[in-house]
Amino acid sequence: MLSYRHSFHAGNFADVLKHIVLVECLEHLTKKQNAFDYIDTHAGAGLFNLTADYATKLAEHKNGIGKLKPAAFPELVSYFSAIQNYSHSDTINVYPGSPAIAKYFLRSQDRAWLYELHPQDHKLLAKNLGGERRIRINQSDGIKGLSSVLPPASRRGLILIDPSYEVKTEYAQVFAAIEQGHKKFATGTYLLWYPVIDRQRIDLLDKRFKKSGIRNIQRFELGLQQDTSGHGMTSSGVFVVNPPWTLLEKMSSLLPKLAKALSDAPQPRYLCEVIAAE
Ligand SMILES: C[S@@+](CC[C@H](N)C(=O)[O-])C[C@H]1O[C@@H](n2cnc3c(N)ncnc32)[C@H](O)[C@@H]1O
Repeated sequence: MLSYRHSFHAGNFADVLKHIVLVECLEHLTKKQNAFDYIDTHAGAGLFNLTADYATKLAEHKNGIGKLKPAAFPELVSYFSAIQNYSHSDTINVYPGSPAIAKYFLRSQDRAWLYELHPQDHKLLAKNLGGERRIRINQSDGIKGLSSVLPPASRRGLILIDPSYEVKTEYAQVFAAIEQGHKKFATGTYLLWYPVIDRQRIDLLDKRFKKSGIRNIQRFELGLQQDTSGHGMTSSGVFVVNPPWTLLEKMSSLLPKLAKALSDAPQPRYLCEVIAAE
């Protein structure tokens, strides 16, 4: 199918939450000298020009990164450094996707495995992030790629699974990928993004995690509106298996503040939950 293009949505409120958690996980891995592997199963194009036609069409970034003032969020200094690194002015005019954010934290000893199936986005990804041996870029299915890379040689790793969920079977497929991945590499950190379009699908995903027997899972969600039965994403969130030990406390204090800054609703929605204890 592959009609989804992330360029129309880059920097929106869902990207902000996902990338804040991504930065926390990456930064945590850099605290030790030992190498780590970063695996991005749905990498996208890597960099998004927020002034280009595709981005101004829906202008979703205006309700995301556009609403945040770095000075109001000193606790997000690393997130803003990674984002601002790609804009050549104080204004954020280029928003980095997950692989570019990861590259900002990678050291010479670390490796990245990036998968992007869409031919045009793969080409852009190769142009934006290619040319380095430590960054492997593949135009192939990221779920299959994941199973071939695990366990990583470094035995330390972060896996981001960030599909567009164009095909509804993807909800079950990504969960199965984490379950299988965890059998091969139980100590890895797995970050799964989800949109709330149909709440029942997310409740089912949550149940699957709870019944899986996998330990140490947290969930963070942020919504701009109450759930609706109509079309469109009202909230989005992430499940994190083996999160950094600092993440829960950080997100507990950040989420109410972030929700207030991003949402115009009188009572913005957010969730910060331990799905399975350590
Ligand atoms: C939500 S976007 C990724 C955004 C990116 N992770 C970021 O944070 O900047 C999902 C991407 O996955 C790609 N895609 C869809 N199915 C895929 C698959 N099976 N394997 C790899 N990429 C896929 C889409 O073309 C799209 O670019």
